[in-house]
Amino acid sequence: MNNRLLTIAGLIEKDVVVADVGTDHAHLAIYLLKNGLANKVIASDVKAGPLAAARRNIADCALEHKIELRLADGLTPYRPAEVDVFVIAGMGGHTIADILAADIELARAARYLILQPMQNRPFLRRWLYQNGFSISVEQIAREGTKFYNIIKAVDKVATLPDEFDLAVAVNPLKDANYYAYIEHLVDVKQALAEHLSAANKIVECEKINTELVRLKGVSDVRDR
Ligand SMILES: C[S@@+](CC[C@H](N)C(=O)[O-])C[C@H]1O[C@@H](n2cnc3c(N)ncnc32)[C@H](O)[C@@H]1O
Repeated sequence: MNNRLLTIAGLIEKDVVVADVGTDHAHLAIYLLKNGLANKVIASDVKAGPLAAARRNIADCALEHKIELRLADGLTPYRPAEVDVFVIAGMGGHTIADILAADIELARAARYLILQPMQNRPFLRRWLYQNGFSISVEQIAREGTKFYNIIKAVDKVATLPDEFDLAVAVNPLKDANYYAYIEHLVDVKQALAEHLSAANKIVECEKINTELVRLKGVSDVRDR
């Protein structure tokens, strides 16, 4: 199991029924059951090919009695109150928001959502707050030079976080991965600021420099 999926698993409380939406290979579902982290998983995928791979992997581990597979789009294969947690991981932020929006009452009925957007993370954070959800914690998973934000969201209306938090992370768990992620963003933004400055794009450059001040502030707090 990679660190991304391990971090997702770590955010799931014990004794739950988990929906793994877009399961693909079913690695997460298998890990949760092998390690006693869930009572049952209902894993779904919109495509037959991934679901066939999931079926083979589940059979190899003799977990057919604990992992149910369903071929369908988004949350449509789930009935109200059937699961405690929806996991939607490894897709773009817009796709995740579309899946939630299409069956929002089902999403609200879950105890919480674990979301791991590959792209458009700020968009998804904002969408959650604008649609009556809030982020209780975000944890960063690291695989080499790649960083993944794992978002735990609950059905709770709250004030929209500020632009910096929407861009970087809301209520992050401030562990070593988080600070490594901040340092990575500093490097990326510094290179971008230099590029914009060389291209004489003053307004854009100032915006990036403002973000850099906040990012460096986070690093400084840790160093103190
Ligand atoms: C990149 S894989 C991620 C697999 C796994 N969730 C993970 O994080 O490792 C994305 C999977 O989501 C499925 N998928 C994409 N859109 C979907 C949708 N609307 N409903 C259900 N599954 C979807 C794809 O078929 C694919 O198998």
